[in-house]
Amino acid sequence: MKARMKDGKTEDIRAVWFENGEVRMIDQRRLPLELTVVGFKDHREVAEAIRNMTTRGAPCIGASAAYAMCLAGLNGEDLDEAAAHIKAARPTAYDLFYATDWMYARLRNGEDPVKAADEYADTTVSKCRAIGRYGGALIEDGMKLMTHCNAGALATVDVGTALAPMRDAHDRGKKFFVYASETRPRLQGMQLTAWELNQEGIDHAIIPDGASAYYMSQGVDMIIVGADRIAANGDFANKIGTFDKAICAKRFGIPFYVAAPVSTFDFDTETGDGIVIEQRSETEMTQIGGMRIAPVGSRALNPAFDVTPAELVTGFITEKGIFRPSEISGMRE
Ligand code: MRU
Repeated sequence: MKARMKDGKTEDIRAVWFENGEVRMIDQRRLPLELTVVGFKDHREVAEAIRNMTTRGAPCIGASAAYAMCLAGLNGEDLDEAAAHIKAARPTAYDLFYATDWMYARLRNGEDPVKAADEYADTTVSKCRAIGRYGGALIEDGMKLMTHCNAGALATVDVGTALAPMRDAHDRGKKFFVYASETRPRLQGMQLTAWELNQEGIDHAIIPDGASAYYMSQGVDMIIVGADRIAANGDFANKIGTFDKAICAKRFGIPFYVAAPVSTFDFDTETGDGIVIEQRSETEMTQIGGMRIAPVGSRALNPAFDVTPAELVTGFITEKGIFRPSEISGMRE
């Protein structure tokens, strides 16, 4: 992804990579104020970075897990213990489990840890490019699009899932506008998606989460979101607030697309009822910048994701093409 560095120069940077014996990643908690890179030499530190959301977004969590397994391999750690520890970092994103198992098999096969993890990350980026080509063809000049949370390069190593079609269409010279909902409480839409759209020069505005229905009533042509886990029947988990958008899109007859690589599809989970939803801390809700803004004595509930039923999805934009919910069982690898 393009990123303006401290010296004002624009560089191409990934969200996570391996360099000089360590796993490096952008500290996504500090954007958009600072572009800070942190490095780790122990798989437990990378697992903690997934847990505390230094790195985040399903495919990027997957690549970070692959690099964590790479460190475990390089450091001669017990691979079963390392894999169990890494998988415990967050419960919802399927890529975490997919990538850890993928790397486990490669390491057990005696493959070079760095080459294998780099291959995982590179493949993730190629899949995102393909998602961009398929989804980009849906975008026409003058369209108004809407997205939620951050399913951009930061969430996928590079390029993005929901933002990949926008990058592709922008690179082809198409002119369109994006509503990016802020995404309470962690503000991934405001702090990360808007940062990426800014770096790319894509016309956009941040809106409050509660303004989605209002703007849809004024005219939105297409909604594209990412996914953390897609069940075999097409029900999918994504950032809390996605379900509301899908219901509103149905009300206004707006096409609602989910962009995700096949590594996000959990074919062993039949429906959305089987997806574990992460509950995060109350303080993410009750505090801003470390200061309590809610009444002392009030509890807060903070589910990180919701499940949108397949019937509200127009199509899944994947690296293999665009599929209706009824068609996804044929994608199983
Ligand atoms: O809690 P996060 O920031 O990891 O949640 C991210 C999302 O919900 C994204 O929409 C999803 O992971 C898809 S990322 C391409």
